Amino acid sequence: MTLHEATERAARLRAAIEAHNRHYYVENKPVISDFEYDLLLQELAGVERLFPSLVVATSPTQRVGSDSTREFAQVAHRYAMLSLGNTYSTDEIRDFDSRIRRTLTDEPEYVCELKFDGTAIGLTYVNGRLHQAVTRGDGEYGDEVTANVRTIPSIPQQLPAGEWPQEFEIRGEILMPFHAFERLNGERIAAGEPPFANPRNAAAGSLKLLDSRMVAHRGLDCFLYYLLGENLPFDTHFDSLRKAAEWGFRVSEQMTKCRTVDEIFAFIRHWDEARKTLPCATDGVVVKVNSFAQQRQLGLTAKSPRWATAFKFKAEQGVTELLSIDFQVGRTGAITPVANLQPLQLAGTTVKRASLHNADQIALLDIRLHDMVVVEKGGEIIPKVVGVDRAQRKADSRPFQYITRCPECATPLVRDEGEAKHYCPNDAHCPPQILGKILHFVSRRAMNINAGEATVEMLYREGLIKDVADLYLLKKEDLRHFNNWGEKSAENLVNSIAASVQTPFAKTLYALGIRYVGETTAKKLADALPSIDAIAQAGPDELLTVDEIGERIAQSIIHYFADPSNRALIARLRKAGVQMAGNPPATRSDALAGMVFVITGTLSRPREDFKTLIEQHGGRVAGDVSAKTTHLLAGLNGGSKLARAKKAGMKIVNEKEYSELLNNEMNNENK
Ligand code: IVH
Repeated sequence: MTLHEATERAARLRAAIEAHNRHYYVENKPVISDFEYDLLLQELAGVERLFPSLVVATSPTQRVGSDSTREFAQVAHRYAMLSLGNTYSTDEIRDFDSRIRRTLTDEPEYVCELKFDGTAIGLTYVNGRLHQAVTRGDGEYGDEVTANVRTIPSIPQQLPAGEWPQEFEIRGEILMPFHAFERLNGERIAAGEPPFANPRNAAAGSLKLLDSRMVAHRGLDCFLYYLLGENLPFDTHFDSLRKAAEWGFRVSEQMTKCRTVDEIFAFIRHWDEARKTLPCATDGVVVKVNSFAQQRQLGLTAKSPRWATAFKFKAEQGVTELLSIDFQVGRTGAITPVANLQPLQLAGTTVKRASLHNADQIALLDIRLHDMVVVEKGGEIIPKVVGVDRAQRKADSRPFQYITRCPECATPLVRDEGEAKHYCPNDAHCPPQILGKILHFVSRRAMNINAGEATVEMLYREGLIKDVADLYLLKKEDLRHFNNWGEKSAENLVNSIAASVQTPFAKTLYALGIRYVGETTAKKLADALPSIDAIAQAGPDELLTVDEIGERIAQSIIHYFADPSNRALIARLRKAGVQMAGNPPATRSDALAGMVFVITGTLSRPREDFKTLIEQHGGRVAGDVSAKTTHLLAGLNGGSKLARAKKAGMKIVNEKEYSELLNNEMNNENK
């Protein structure tokens, strides 16, 4: 095959594959079998392997994504990405219609569409090719996620021959269909990762993955609902979307023209019920003025167009039998009652459990075992029980008796005045509370040990750690013996634990999890008293002289140190090398004197740590980019600050460059 032949063959294969993607994903009418489709794709991949110069970003072979990990560049939206006014009330839809009729000289025509519940995307096409995909961001600047979007099969990379404008933008919603959502959460739970609360979060999270090969496996989909550009050859929104559908975009089939509010209400009523059979989440109906001329006449407000509004559906409810009630003990000892239900389908997912909040709520609703209860599922992951169908109550049912002892450790529960929840007071020995303490200790703002929740839970469950001091006794070999950990993972964890002994005293104090001693209090305490011994020996009078420490906190500190098991724990931590005293001098050098930093994005340690370091070397840290800023320290996903700093031509450094800068300056200082 010559290069010329290969070029032609590749172009033909690409056009055919794109066409089959449309048949399959957009029109739901596949023309060839999956097997035949794979053959086309394989042939194209073969041609591209022989002639690598033919590989282009828009080739269907590239949909699997590249393996390069990127940060997302910030891109300014050509047209601001506005949102919509929304309402739950039909009266407000009437008001919307009256306002429009008052402003317009001619009768309006509306288009009603479903409001898809995903994450917004703007796709720019130049000469029929997907050029760029940008998320909403703050409406002015968004993240450029083109490589990830290329993995979504229903989004065309190259439009078939047609009358599309040379350059245009089309906006829509990236969605995760329910079946993909359930599969993903199932996998996450099995892997000990936290599940996504809803398909919207899952779609948004997937779009921001750094590895587009992973995005390709998330089963994302996209519905397009808004075409923008200069001199578009259409007069109405409806026609523009119909054309977009011809060009191969997936456009909502439910789009309907309406003349009156009653027709709008009929659309809403129909879809409030019919949406339950759709494969994707929808949360309302969008009503738009159809004519572009009328849209221009109506104009925009700062936040949203005056020519469109959204009617939101109420959260879905269902009725099912309450089989039993479980009680979960939280990390702080708080007890949460959870209903086990006869499974029911709600908002596209199977619901088996629902929150009952607390004892008062159960009493207030008079919820009893085997009642038929009303369950509601809104945007949150845990559905709620919101009522009881008394008519279906069995004659022999009895009011529910709330538990009086902790289900984990049998300690009698307490309930403080003014608190809605019952608590287990056995914080030193109740397993979920011990685990909670360990998780707090390792967390980013505390000792910043690189161990996920699942890992910590496993270490605790397997008996490798019983308290936080045991962490420092862990050896690589111990870890390798359980759960088939690789050498590297075991080493990373052990190293991260070892490095944590350097954590400043104030953070260590916070990490101990003394009740009411939050981050700020810990810092004030560490500033006022030189060491853990000084704090342990301080009486109430001395503690009360510390800024922000009142009676309640002082008592809690005294109570903590009065407990011999806490004192023993501190002794073991000290032996492990953990900092138990403050760092005396505030300034270490003047290396960064005169420099003003702004910090943005995600860094490997909390921003506070960088701020402290910069200040210790004589620099300043400001909250936002201004004329005084000299450096922007940018982590992952820098956001609008990064975009503005770039625009203003400021010096932008990543973490590594920042360390180099500091080292260089210190060397200069020492010369
Ligand atoms: S039109 C200027 N149509 O809902 C008008 N938006 O709450 C732009 N959405 O920002 C939006 N389905 O992310 C439009 N059929 C639809 C929609 C839709 C979902 C989203 C979109 C929008 C948000 C407003």
